[in-house]
Amino acid sequence: MRVTLFGASGLLGHDLVPELSREPYQLTALSIEDVDLRDHARVRNLIRESRPEWILLLAAYTDVDGCESNRDLAFAVNCDGAVNVAEAARAAGSRLLFVSTDYVFDGSKRSPYQTSDARNPASVYGESKARAEEQLLEILPEVCIARTSWLFGHGGKCFPGTILKLAATRPEISVVNDQRGSPTFTVDLAPALVQLCRASARGIVHVTNSGDCTWYEFAKEIVRLSGLPAAVRPVTTAEFPRPARRPAYSVLSPDSLHAYNIHMPGWQDALRRYLASVSGATASVVP
Ligand SMILES: NC(=O)c1ccc[n+]([C@@H]2O[C@H](COP(=O)([O-])OP(=O)(O)OC[C@H]3O[C@@H](n4cnc5c(N)ncnc54)[C@H](OP(=O)(O)O)[C@@H]3O)[C@@H](O)[C@H]2O)c1
Repeated sequence: MRVTLFGASGLLGHDLVPELSREPYQLTALSIEDVDLRDHARVRNLIRESRPEWILLLAAYTDVDGCESNRDLAFAVNCDGAVNVAEAARAAGSRLLFVSTDYVFDGSKRSPYQTSDARNPASVYGESKARAEEQLLEILPEVCIARTSWLFGHGGKCFPGTILKLAATRPEISVVNDQRGSPTFTVDLAPALVQLCRASARGIVHVTNSGDCTWYEFAKEIVRLSGLPAAVRPVTTAEFPRPARRPAYSVLSPDSLHAYNIHMPGWQDALRRYLASVSGATASVVP
C-alpha cells in the first residue's frame, strides 16, 4: 500500500512513520521542510508524484493558545492547508485520513461525545479544525476524519513529560481539575490509524485511549507511578486563565472505533508504558 504522510516530524508522526516504514507499506513521509501545507502547487505535485492509495494528514498548527493571536495562520494551515491536500487527493484518486481534535466541541456535554454531535468549537484552533472537517467532507465524501485528544508520546513536548520535569524540581504543582478528557498515547494511536486505513474507514471516527480523567487526575497518576515526592494540588481553569478556552468536557465516545472492531487500551495502562520507556523513570515506576 502506497502511503503519503504529512506531519512526519511531529509528536504523532514520530510513531506513525515507523509503523508505516515496513512491508506492506511504501511510505513517503513529509515534514514541513519538504512541503508547507499552504503551498498548493507543491502539495499537488508531491501527491501526483507519490500516487498514494492513502494520505495521512497529521500536520497542523497545534499551538492552541498561539492560534488565538494568529487566527489567519491557524486557518491558513489547519483549514486551507487541509483543503489543499484534499483537492490533491481528489485529483490523484487517493483516500485521505485527516487527524482532528476533541476541541471541535464546546465541552458543554457531560456524557461522551458521539460522532453525530454538532461541532461548536470554543477556540480558534478548534474552529480551524472544525471548518476543515466540514470542507473536507464536501470535497471528499469518502474522507476519514479521526478525532483524537490529549496526545502524549516520545516525539515532542507533552503533558506527562512536563509533569515529570516539574515534579522532579518542585515540592508542589498545581493542575486544573475542571477539564475532563481522554489522554491518548501516540504509540497506541498510530497502529489504530493504520488499522482504519486497512479497514477502508470513512466518515468521522473517535480514536482515543479508553477511560477519562481531568488534567489534575492525570498529573496525580504520573507522579504516583513515577514515585516522585511532589504534591499535586487541584485548581480551577479560572485560577489559571489561558488565551484559548478549552472544553470542560471532551470525552469522545469509542462507539465509532468499535464499529471497526478496533479497541484501545486504557489511558492508565498507556501511561504506565510511556513512563516505563522514559529513560530515568524506569527504575522508579511503582506498581
Ligand atoms: N497534540 C494533541 O494533544 C492533539 C490532540 C488532538 C488532535 N491533535 C491533532 O493531531 C495531529 C498531530 O498532532 P501532533 O501533536 O503530532 O502535532 P505536532 O507535534 O505539532 O506536529 C504537527 C507537525 O505539523 C507541522 N506543521 C506545522 N505547520 C505546517 C505547515 N504549514 N505545513 C506543513 N507542516 C506543518 C509541524 O512542524 P513544526 O514543528 O516545524 O511547526 C509539526 O511537525 C494534528 O493534526 C493535531 O491537530 C493533536
